[in-house]
Formats: sequence, C-alpha cells, structure tokens
Amino acid sequence: MSDLVLLNPGPAGTSPAVRAAMLRGDLCHREPEFADLLGRLRASVARCLGVADTHETVLVTGSGTAAMETAVIGSVRAGRKLLVVDNGVYGARLLSMAEAHGIETVVVRAPWTAPVDPGAIAERLRSDGRIDAVACVHHETTTGMLNPIAEIGAIVRDHEAVFLVDAISSTAIESPGLAEAGADIVCGTANKGLHGIPGVSFLLLSTAKGADRVDAAPRRSVYLDPGAQLAAQRAGDIPFTPAVQTCYALDEAITEYETAGGYEARVGLYRERAAVVRAGFARLGLPVLIEAPHRANSVTALELPTGVTYPALHDELKRRGYVIYAGQGRLSRTHFRIATMGEIPMPRLVDLEGALEESVRHLAKARGE
Ligand SMILES: Cc1ncc(COP(=O)(O)O)c(C=O)c1O
Repeated sequence: MSDLVLLNPGPAGTSPAVRAAMLRGDLCHREPEFADLLGRLRASVARCLGVADTHETVLVTGSGTAAMETAVIGSVRAGRKLLVVDNGVYGARLLSMAEAHGIETVVVRAPWTAPVDPGAIAERLRSDGRIDAVACVHHETTTGMLNPIAEIGAIVRDHEAVFLVDAISSTAIESPGLAEAGADIVCGTANKGLHGIPGVSFLLLSTAKGADRVDAAPRRSVYLDPGAQLAAQRAGDIPFTPAVQTCYALDEAITEYETAGGYEARVGLYRERAAVVRAGFARLGLPVLIEAPHRANSVTALELPTGVTYPALHDELKRRGYVIYAGQGRLSRTHFRIATMGEIPMPRLVDLEGALEESVRHLAKARGE
C-alpha cells in the first residue's frame, strides 16, 4: 500500500518524518511537556497561516467536522441567527449542524458550480438585524470551487456579526488566504494542506471579535465547547484526553512546512501541482467542472469519459498506483475528483496522465471498443 499515491482530498499523504513523530513516546496530557506542546502548536498554527497577530488557536480533538461543529456552536448568541452559504456538501453540513443545535438559520444558496454572490449576503445582513454570524466554506471540496471569502469578510466587518469560515480544505493551499479573509472564526485541520495526521483540527479566533463571541455564545455542547476550550488552553490545559500522537505529528508537519518556506512556498507547490495535472487533463480532453478563476489549487472535478463508470476507473487507476475519489452527492455518477493534497512526489503527478490514458483505453478495450 505504501506506493499508492492518495489523490483523494484527505486523509492526505504524509512524510516519513511526520509519521515517525507519532513515535516520540507516551505522554500524559497533565504533564508540563504536553503544556509545552500545546503552547507551541497554538502559536505555530496561527503563525504558519499568517494570522499570528490577529488570531488565537484553539485545538480541537477530532477531524475537521469536529472543528466545524465547535465553530457553529460558538458563533451565535442566544436568540440570534446564523446565515449559512450553501453551495456544496460542506455548506449544507454547516447548515445541518446549526439545525441540530436549534440555531435559527438564514440560507443563501448558490449553484454548486458558482461562487456565492457577496451582494446577496450584504442584502441579508442589511435586512435582518438578528443575523449574528455568517458562515461560508472557502473551498467547497465537493466541486473544487472557491467562494470569495475576502469580499464577504469585508462586508461582514461592518456589522456586529462575526464571519465563520470553513477553511478545512484551503488552509495553506489557497491565496488569498486567511490573512486577507477578515474571518473571526476559522476552522482548519491538521491533515490536508498542513500535511499532518487526521485526528486534530483547530479553530482560529480573531482577537477582534471571534474570541469574545465564543465566550458570549451559550453552552450548546459539553465536548465541543469553544469557550471552555479557549479558557483551558490559554492556561496550558486541555479539558479532555487529546490525540497526543497526532499533535506530535502536527508539530513535525509545521516544522517541515516552515523549513520548506512556509505559506508562500506551500501555495506555490499546490499551484505547480495543479498546473501539471491539469495540463494532462486538457491533453486527454477530460472536461473540468470548475474553470479559473474560481477553481481551487488542490481539487479538480472531472467528467467521467463516455462509457466509463467511477468504480471501474478507480480500480484501474489503483492498479497503477493511484487512489482517486468519487464525485460527491448528485455528481457521483457523472464526475470523479483528483486532489493533489499532502505529500506526493512530483514525478508521480507527471506520470498520472499516462496512467489515466492507459486506464481509459483498457476499459474501452474491455467493452469491446
Ligand atoms: C471544506 C471541508 N469542510 C469540512 C470537511 C470535513 O473534514 P473531516 O472529513 O476531516 O471531518 C472537509 C473534508 O473533506 C472539507 O473538505
């Protein structure tokens, strides 16, 4: 399995040093060594994403979805509403979380293939004074499409509402990044763009509005309580058993990321990867779902070639060393996705075109064409 290149949008491939970091040894989270690790990660996550001067990190034990739910819970005060942008599976997930916690919502919908219109959000904020937070996914991994978070951030900034951004599949990958987004509550994950191990995620809370807001929101969960987590983590503590080994891995992943040049270098790497694989898709005549300038650096949704099913293509490519990913939701029969997240040797991305071509040819031959 170790030679398989993961072209799914997480869990993303990791480096040998990141995997080895999980073996640093057993550690009790009530010992000072864990407080050191926690303090180091709280500083390095914000620093490596360019928001050290404006945001404070809260680590969340769990995958990105745990960070999303913690963020939703902490974003809205009692009796107020959450505006949710829904133009993909993850926007819909934010919405269902709000509903599950009895938070009143206002939904701004857009087609899955179109970024949301910031004007529609401005209009809702103007007309509804009870909107307390605006939630938007930056990179809708469903389709590989980017929402205009910097424009939305500029609109929300003029209101009392806070801006919640799900940046789980865009952190360290997309530019403009978090420093330009004007977001107050950001969710991100150790895996994907930071190349850590899944199991730890995080919130970034703006010192201007986000940290106060999670304190002011009612306590809607015991485990996913951002106010309690913030208070404990500021004191070097974490309320429940953390994923210690995953924290070690994140620590190492951030060291590797910063040693390699940090945010600019990582975004550059993802752009280079996108250019390599997309040139191949164009030569093969595979239609892409989202065109520039709204498409992400890391995910390309492609139409399945005529007569080719996703499971058949998946299996052919896996035989050739690549794990691809299905189209999501209503795109599952017509599209597949190629993600270039995590540790991937560039020569394997160069060779992907040939593997795709061979796979499609092999499947056509099997159909007797
Ligand atoms: C935009 C976005 N939000 C949230 C999630 C959920 O993250 P996880 O699967 O780590 O819970 C994902 C996962 O792919 C994602 O792409």
